[in-house]
Amino acid sequence: MTTHKSFEPDYFLSYCQSLYDTDKVYDTEQTNRFDRHRHVEPDSAEFLAGIAIMRNANKVLEIGTSTGFSTLWLAYGLRYQSDINFISLDIDKSRSDTAKKHLKAVGLSSLVDVKVQDAFDFLNQNSEIFDLIFLDAERQFYCDYIEQLHKALSLGSVLIVDNVLSHDDEVREFLAAFKNNSRYICRTLDIGAGLFMAVCQEP
Ligand SMILES: C[S@@+](CC[C@H](N)C(=O)[O-])C[C@H]1O[C@@H](n2cnc3c(N)ncnc32)[C@H](O)[C@@H]1O
Repeated sequence: MTTHKSFEPDYFLSYCQSLYDTDKVYDTEQTNRFDRHRHVEPDSAEFLAGIAIMRNANKVLEIGTSTGFSTLWLAYGLRYQSDINFISLDIDKSRSDTAKKHLKAVGLSSLVDVKVQDAFDFLNQNSEIFDLIFLDAERQFYCDYIEQLHKALSLGSVLIVDNVLSHDDEVREFLAAFKNNSRYICRTLDIGAGLFMAVCQEP
């Protein structure tokens, strides 16, 4: 079991709350959506941590780090796990650098490999199976990821996708690739902006 001496749960919770509140104000001030941090809702972040704990996950992939709000919560859910391989991807280096700063501030930086890489390139080169994949990037490209996501998921793997109720029209085709595949048990959850969860039930 790995514990991290500098990690303090109360500090973590207040840090996350403050990060969320500050970035929410920042986002409302940005006219260009690409300039916004667009964090998951706090309920969704806690749900992700809960799934990481429940799944006993140690191989985790996050696509869309932004400045690290969901990354912090996923790392929180992994903090007692050993042999962790948690990769969080973003194409924007300055956001990744900020996420690293936040992870360091709460004492969880050793748990996360924050990579600056395009999701498509990463998935094309990947040969790993992940226990948990969280997808929260640009929805217009999700269909390009389907084939490689199928390969990265196996028995017991969980895929979670954000914004499936807030932007249902933009993810319909992508979600159908999982809903219409008997390899997965799928549910849409009314948490935050809507989370889609696909559990892989076959090797
Ligand atoms: C909605 S935000 C992620 C929010 C983050 N999950 C959170 O809750 O704090 C989407 C992020 O995906 C990143 N992104 C967009 N396209 C990407 C791609 N092709 N590969 C990797 N990251 C990408 C953007 O730079 C942006 O920071």
